Amino acid sequence: MKRLITRRRFAKDSAALSLASVVPAGLFGQSDGARQIEVRADDKIGEVRPALHGQFAEHLGSCVYGGLWVGKSSPIPNVNGYRKAAVDYLKELGVPVLRWPGGCFADDYHWREGIGAPEKRPKRVNIHWGGYVEDNSFGTHEFIGLCRLIGAEPYLAGNVGSGSPREMRDWVEYCNQPSGSTLAEERAANGSPEPFQVRLWGVGNESWGCGGQMTPDEYAAYFRRFSVFLREFGGTHLFLIASGPNNNNVAWTRGLMDGLVRHRPADGVSMHYYSWARQEPTKFDVDHMNEQLSSFAKIEQAVIQQRALLDGYDRGKNVGLIVDEWGVWDRGIPDEEKNYGRLWQQSTMRSAVAAGLGLNLFNRQADKLYMCNIAQMVNVLQSMLLTDGPAGRNCIRTTSYYAFLLFKPHRGKMAVPVEAADNGPLGLSASATLGEGELNLSLVNPRHDQDMDVVCSVRGGKPSSATAQILHDADWNACNTFDQPDRVKPGSHPVAVDNGKVRIGLPPLSLLTAIIKLG
Ligand code: AHR
Repeated sequence: MKRLITRRRFAKDSAALSLASVVPAGLFGQSDGARQIEVRADDKIGEVRPALHGQFAEHLGSCVYGGLWVGKSSPIPNVNGYRKAAVDYLKELGVPVLRWPGGCFADDYHWREGIGAPEKRPKRVNIHWGGYVEDNSFGTHEFIGLCRLIGAEPYLAGNVGSGSPREMRDWVEYCNQPSGSTLAEERAANGSPEPFQVRLWGVGNESWGCGGQMTPDEYAAYFRRFSVFLREFGGTHLFLIASGPNNNNVAWTRGLMDGLVRHRPADGVSMHYYSWARQEPTKFDVDHMNEQLSSFAKIEQAVIQQRALLDGYDRGKNVGLIVDEWGVWDRGIPDEEKNYGRLWQQSTMRSAVAAGLGLNLFNRQADKLYMCNIAQMVNVLQSMLLTDGPAGRNCIRTTSYYAFLLFKPHRGKMAVPVEAADNGPLGLSASATLGEGELNLSLVNPRHDQDMDVVCSVRGGKPSSATAQILHDADWNACNTFDQPDRVKPGSHPVAVDNGKVRIGLPPLSLLTAIIKLG
């Protein structure tokens, strides 16, 4: 009861937040309504693979054409056809992995149409995303070129739905055979004597839906057949990713894994889990926001359950669980989609909080995950960057970009457990990783109506100093626009360290990463 009263008093007193940020030493350790968390630096979860911060670029709306790719003769500043501002921003963020060309698009993509002299490439109708015509000027070489520019590992999604094992097998050889074969020579003649060494291959996409409306049995048969022909060339060992469940569909995963027993298993199984909402991005009300943010607790449960399911088939835990598409999917605005492309979506403070909840859960479940790819990179759904239409010169960083930037220190570090009492879907969200002599602590306050005053102790280490960066706006609909590109961006935030404890005040709707030096 005492705790409840003091919390309520604390929440009412907005001045308490600034006090918490520069709290006097004497207040540490007192039960004054602060949320106590403990980082267990002497324990381990698993490495936060950089690929948990992967991205996805589909031929959809203005993600590729007019977004990433403007063409070499465009008046928009470009590097060999790639939009320069996008390349610069993505390099700054760092993109560990990039998945392409879809999505649904992948199962209607024929890779040979995207190689050779651009003017000779066929024009095709994008049947999944609006029926517009694409000229195939962005193909395999352009994709690999982009990956090299931004330092991303390429991940190709092969066509199972309308393709053939031969078509996909040839794509692998075209990319990976160093020399000597006709396909390797064709690649060299097209400007790339060096093999692309593509390791990550998706075998179809959403085969339960846009990838062919298959049953798990049917898909497992396709996977078995395709995978026989997908081989190592030139020493590049393939990591084959099977089309996994929609959300936490255990029946799909079971059917798939049953169908692969006594066969070469998939190296990875991809789950798609979107956080849907029926409201327009900048017009959310509290209920819809809370409902959408609550979905991340379900995603965490799905990761735990799907992992357990896979482990039941694969005692060696060799099958990687991949969250291949995730992010907020809000209600589209027809006028914006008309001007800027299909699924063009603004990112708001709410979206950034959602990204923080996702990235926190990936840290917490780091031992269970192989890769996670946000949908998508530019202009589409929860994108990192926005441009004002295919012909637009503007390119801005979204709130989601900044959420990913805040979590960058975790990449490649060892995740360690964080004990926190408040574990509800809209409670304080926390995760931590251990670096050389320092701890990276990320906190997310998903509440619009509560400050959170957090006192953190560290088991197995003694904090000596700390700095923090925060992303925050009290308005959940706040966003970066072409007129106000810097409305929501990270800034430094005070952190107090006293006698081995760290105290941080989190305003409503905020996400923060603190770098804590261990003495
Ligand atoms: O990311 C948009 C679409 O969502 C993808 O094409 C598909 O895989 C999923 O349904």
